[in-house]
Amino acid sequence: MIYTKILGTGKYVPKKTLTNNDLKEFVDTNDDWIYSRTGIKERHIVTNEGTLDLAYQTALKAINSANINKNEIDLIIVATVTSDFAFPGVANLLQAKLEIEGIMAFDINAACSGFIYAMQIADKMIKSGSFNNALIIGAETLSRLTDWRDRNTCVLFGDGAGAMIIGKSETNQIIDIITGSKGDEDMLLYYKNADIKDPKINATSKQDHIHMKGNDVFKFATRIMPKTVKSLLQRNKLNVDDINFFVAHQANSRIITKSARDLGIKMDKMFMNIDKYGNTSAASVPIAIDEAIEKGLINRGDLFITVAFGGGLTWAGALIKY
Ligand SMILES: CC(C)(COP(=O)(O)OP(=O)(O)OC[C@H]1O[C@@H](n2cnc3c(N)ncnc32)[C@H](O)[C@@H]1OP(=O)(O)O)[C@@H](O)C(=O)NCCC(=O)NCCS
Repeated sequence: MIYTKILGTGKYVPKKTLTNNDLKEFVDTNDDWIYSRTGIKERHIVTNEGTLDLAYQTALKAINSANINKNEIDLIIVATVTSDFAFPGVANLLQAKLEIEGIMAFDINAACSGFIYAMQIADKMIKSGSFNNALIIGAETLSRLTDWRDRNTCVLFGDGAGAMIIGKSETNQIIDIITGSKGDEDMLLYYKNADIKDPKINATSKQDHIHMKGNDVFKFATRIMPKTVKSLLQRNKLNVDDINFFVAHQANSRIITKSARDLGIKMDKMFMNIDKYGNTSAASVPIAIDEAIEKGLINRGDLFITVAFGGGLTWAGALIKY
């Protein structure tokens, strides 16, 4: 039986920050509204970097933290909705930048749940015996899809990247992963690509921006995250108290506190860094895990659960022994 574990993690965010006060330049908003409704104080955004650059910097950190030779990596998966190109993928360009060409590399899109989706794919591919060490990344430059005139959405998002290296283990450490999805028929959260079918439309089309029905997304999130955590606990015959730490997708501090309350989790066991980064989509979970480890909130031997929701609509959760 092949088992898996986390070998190392990393994170990277662009240098430039936009505070809530900075946003007043673009939209009618204020720090008090944003902080009290979302928990966000500032977010990092790219200036001249792309998603590949963020992915590359975080990959270097994860490789260093895993203490392995980059040539031991035989699989790269990048979760992103903001690939610099429709093709080639971020993973393929990253492979060249890391000078580890010749191995399998691809991108996936499951919006903010994407990193845990990537984790499940990599975990199963290693457990199949066909792969040894996977570099998985969530990297996003959502600032490029944001309508900076729409105060309902522009205050929420930020750019960044997080990475993890997963490898073989003698003990069962990546214990269980749940992923799920349902079509977003009510169009709660979307970004539409330019229509390329009709040349007349294509010739005049403009780039779209993020559309969101915030209240409905809030309701979905506060229903699906506790449900996913409960399923993980039930499937593995565990109680909330058996889990040392929880890392939820950082979309809104109120979504996290409500989910914690519904599950009976004390807030000191629930990670929160949304104040510094905003919602970084697929990068949010790996940035949060890396930071929780760095701060000593998750230590070797601890059991932790990470959980996310996002566009799609998608959801995902993982039970891990670090
Ligand atoms: C977006 C969100 C923060 C809005 O919070 P809310 O408490 O539901 O606020 P509402 O949308 O009801 O808006 C309340 C009022 O604030 C106003 N408002 C909205 N954005 C504002 C802003 N940035 N600054 C100031 N006022 C704002 C609204 O126009 C509205 O005014 P009105 O009452 O005069 O019409 C919240 O719904 C949310 O976080 N949803 C989930 C979003 C999410 O997680 N998306 C990513 C998924 S991966």
